Amino acid sequence: MDVRKVGVVGCGLMGSGIAQVAAQAGFETVVREVDEAVLRRGLGAIESFLARGVERGKVKEADRQATLGRLRGTTKLDDLAACDIVVEAIVEDRAAKRSLFGELEGLLGAEAILASNTSSLSITEMAAATRRPERFVGLHFFNPVPLMPLVEVVRTMLTDPEVEAVVGRFGVALGKTVVRATDRTGFVVNRLLVPYLLDAVRALEEGVGSIEDIDAGMRLGCGYPMGPFTLLDLVGLDTTVSIAGIFFEEFREPRYATPPLIRRMVLAGFHGRKSGRGFYDYSGPQPRPNDFLWQRLGRA
Ligand code: 3HC
Repeated sequence: MDVRKVGVVGCGLMGSGIAQVAAQAGFETVVREVDEAVLRRGLGAIESFLARGVERGKVKEADRQATLGRLRGTTKLDDLAACDIVVEAIVEDRAAKRSLFGELEGLLGAEAILASNTSSLSITEMAAATRRPERFVGLHFFNPVPLMPLVEVVRTMLTDPEVEAVVGRFGVALGKTVVRATDRTGFVVNRLLVPYLLDAVRALEEGVGSIEDIDAGMRLGCGYPMGPFTLLDLVGLDTTVSIAGIFFEEFREPRYATPPLIRRMVLAGFHGRKSGRGFYDYSGPQPRPNDFLWQRLGRA
């Protein structure tokens, strides 16, 4: 079996990116979002990404049109009934995901594959709650999905190796490099990335360096495309805190403990780019480091 028709559930940051790359790769794609406004925003983001791609000479106008022609947004889950694979990209909430997969099972054909883009919840737990655990995998993309060349394919002890192979071929067809991982919290990338990001916050708290200096250090000293605070703002501070909590629950290791500063920032509404302020302030034409954080820490 190979994938022909793709369903994506959730049209937020990740879901819209996944739907875009699937449609761009030539798959008939249906993306479902419960909230009409979120759906419109997600589809709008895809349209503007493709339009910017044309302006930059990265996307041909004919491909832009063909991609949009293969992509359909809906608020009805029933519209995913004929999909060969459904990729879930909704909120990181166990109960919401379980209920979604329960509904999907009633709709989809017996051969259809279920995949979750979760970054930290257990694939085994989700798979075991369905009637098709052998046809369930993790399929973990990276933000921004259209630009990041990797996808992790995560198997559990229950995954049929043939299903893992089909999903691996699907990842390659999306233009991504596929990394295979077992179901351990964080898989490959986040297992290493999350402690690094939390350590950057600890370094800031300890006064090792300023936001800008720590970012510049890792960008220029290690060749990372973004410093840790720019990346934290991109991923979302709320998302990072929630992921770190799940890691800590699983491993009970201090390196996964959430530093007080980032927890307070989330409580105060500093969620990163999406809320207009995080470690940087995004209200002006260029992001500015949130120096007052530094000053409030008594380091100015
Ligand atoms: N259409 C087509 N191509 C586009 C485009 C568009 N609309 N916009 C940009 N591009 C292309 C550019 O032309 C460029 O291509 P080139 O390298 O061939 O010239 C490339 O994409 C990069 O674009 P930019 O030059 O505009 O941007 P940057 O060079 O600043 O790169 C970035 C942006 C790719 C986001 C880079 O900063 C990066 O890799 N950052 C790190 C992101 C990261 O680490 N993400 C992972 C987060 S962790 C995660 O998601 C897991 C989750 O579970 C938490």
